[in-house]
Amino acid sequence: MSDLIPVRVAEIEQISSIIKQFTFVADEKPLPPFSAGSHVVVQMEGEGKRFRNAYSLISNPADSSHYRIAVRLQERSRGGSQFMHGEFRPGDRLFISPPANMFLPDWQARHHILIAGGIGITPFLSYGYELEQRQASFEVHYVYRNAETGAFREALTERFGNRLYCYSGERPDFYTLLGHQPLGTHVYVCGPEAMIQDVKATASALGWSPQRVHYEAFTAPQPGKPFVARLSRSQQDVAVAGDTPLLDALEAHGLEIPNMCRGGVCGQCKTSVVDGDIEHRDAFLDDQEKASQRCIMPCVSRSSSDYLVLDL
Ligand code: FES
Repeated sequence: MSDLIPVRVAEIEQISSIIKQFTFVADEKPLPPFSAGSHVVVQMEGEGKRFRNAYSLISNPADSSHYRIAVRLQERSRGGSQFMHGEFRPGDRLFISPPANMFLPDWQARHHILIAGGIGITPFLSYGYELEQRQASFEVHYVYRNAETGAFREALTERFGNRLYCYSGERPDFYTLLGHQPLGTHVYVCGPEAMIQDVKATASALGWSPQRVHYEAFTAPQPGKPFVARLSRSQQDVAVAGDTPLLDALEAHGLEIPNMCRGGVCGQCKTSVVDGDIEHRDAFLDDQEKASQRCIMPCVSRSSSDYLVLDL
């Protein structure tokens, strides 16, 4: 990542036993402005290991004196969220990427329906500020398993009043929800993949055009079996541990791979593959590209063969 921004942890707040909120400020230059739905990549230096995780900005886009993110502790993660929860203290310094946005609200919409599953509420926290500032018509549907995962419900009740609908341990009936909306309504969904697919399928069945359906399908890199990435141009081998994403292993080897989301969505890290079996886990490549086994999104995808030969 180029143009990294040095920041300091100004405040850490425990929102629930599994969610912490971090506030970053810049000591050197002012932080760049951002828009609702933006994310940053947080770079963490662990012992002998560097983590880079993308998080939505949850603070007010009209106020870039600070950035705020919320991090859910992921037990099965490769360690970035565990590092943030366990190691970060107020006053610590770190680097983040400039904000990028792949989940902008459509300001032409006449009404906005925001559907969040658990920690998927985070992009909508910044949406809320901008929707209110623009006096846009909107409603928020917040779905969570329990009080720990639905930790923002009280703060949101205060902020959004009767525009907030909470669902604890259940899901709304998407067919009813989307079936009675005025023309020009757009729906936005962020949460587990199954929920995103449900909303997309329901909207499609009801005749909504795809342009009215927005989703953020960030996939946190999941562990897999270890393999070796062979770099065909330099004839070097890079060992990829089971808990390390291929992108991280390549970066640790000194390679600069363009990236933005680190979640299999933006397409920036697309890398050509010369040989090997790819286990595709991204939401960017289409079925044909995946079947061709000729390219990989190394931020989330891995190899199912012992060796993966890359055109690098
Ligand atoms: S960095 Fe966005 S798809 Fe890999």
